[in-house]
Amino acid sequence: MPGILNQQIMSRTIKRLAVYTSGGDAPGMNAAVRAVVRTCAYHDVEIFGITGGYEGLMDGNLKKLETRDVGNIIQRGGTFLKTARSERFTTPEGRKLAAAAIKKHKIEGLIALGGNGTFTGAEIFHKEHGVPVVGVPCTIDNDLYGTDYTIGFDTALNTAVEAVDKIRDTAESHDRLFFIEVMGRNSGFLALHTAIASGATLVLLPEKETTYEELANVLRISAKRKKLFSLIIVAEGNRLGKTEVIAEELKSRVGAYDTRVSVIGHLQRGGSPSGADRLLASRLGANAVVALLDGHKNVMVGIDNNLIKYTPLSIAVKNEKEINMDMLRLSEILAL
Ligand code: F6P
Repeated sequence: MPGILNQQIMSRTIKRLAVYTSGGDAPGMNAAVRAVVRTCAYHDVEIFGITGGYEGLMDGNLKKLETRDVGNIIQRGGTFLKTARSERFTTPEGRKLAAAAIKKHKIEGLIALGGNGTFTGAEIFHKEHGVPVVGVPCTIDNDLYGTDYTIGFDTALNTAVEAVDKIRDTAESHDRLFFIEVMGRNSGFLALHTAIASGATLVLLPEKETTYEELANVLRISAKRKKLFSLIIVAEGNRLGKTEVIAEELKSRVGAYDTRVSVIGHLQRGGSPSGADRLLASRLGANAVVALLDGHKNVMVGIDNNLIKYTPLSIAVKNEKEINMDMLRLSEILAL
């Protein structure tokens, strides 16, 4: 069984690793890097931090990290290693530069903190240049197959719920219908969990086809039940399109409500990580080091029913993590 408590570390040959954060930042990335650095120290392995994700790797921006370099960061949002979405790394030329930097610094394995794009790049890099990579899932979208939760999701959920609670106050005071857009790219986890936790009337997800007529009906029924204000959570990747357009169309169909649109946006990516995210980051960061020392290559370290699980990167990036449709039904029932 994989896990840090399994002390049978097979490889005593690995002496030098590197860690980077890539793609959209997520609260808890710092806590994960801290766990990586300190677990390396525990196992007497040198660890280098790469600044700016793949861009930094290609430019050779590597610096040795000591345990004190990661002090006082467990509570910080963002990533002190910086991050980027790199076009250059999608080219073979870019990846050659990265391989040269790894050779120069005698790095024997990489720990990649990020989401789908990060792991896609890591997998290709491993195939082309043979560098062992272990991924740590970090994204507020929670859209990675092979892990129940990704680092950053819980904090973003709490931020979104807090924002919706505040909007609820003004919505109730004015008897208004609010359309609140949350992030999540092509996935609806953040929207669905926010909708249930904030008691929204409706949620629009990328995973489910919804017609204007269905939405209008729910609102008409709500109005009949004397629901004077309503909150609709709109996933940015929903199937009907832009939140402003949806709001206009529904206003013209239902009419009864004074409507407003609020986009929470990048607020959801920042802030101090929640306790749950710090815990997850500490467990996954530490276990990523153990995975590499145990000889694993090209896997993502995730959490499955509260146990550590390894999933091949190729499977993590190709498979879709499905929304729990019972949760959607629950949100509908509780909004009656
Ligand atoms: O993947 C995280 C995420 O915040 C998505 O929810 C969102 O669609 C995207 O990143 C925004 O990316 P950027 O910050 O590059 O605009």
